[in-house]
Amino acid sequence: MSTIRVDSDRCQGHAMCVTQAPSLVDVDDLGFAVIIGDGTLSTPEHHEQAERAVACCPEQALHVEDES
Ligand code: F3S
Repeated sequence: MSTIRVDSDRCQGHAMCVTQAPSLVDVDDLGFAVIIGDGTLSTPEHHEQAERAVACCPEQALHVEDES
């Protein structure tokens, strides 16, 4: 199972990730990315959204962890 994670130290609040992965990422009151739920990528759509979100972030604040 794979999981999307955010590195809060890197996130600068650009918010492109939210438009690319609205099922997986939201922003908090200050505009920084937060993962919705536990971030588990349980559908092909989740994987597609996660790939797009990771690719779009100019701060490289998002990544996908692969767990067996
Ligand atoms: Fe933060 Fe990158 Fe999204 S800077 S709000 S994780 S596009």
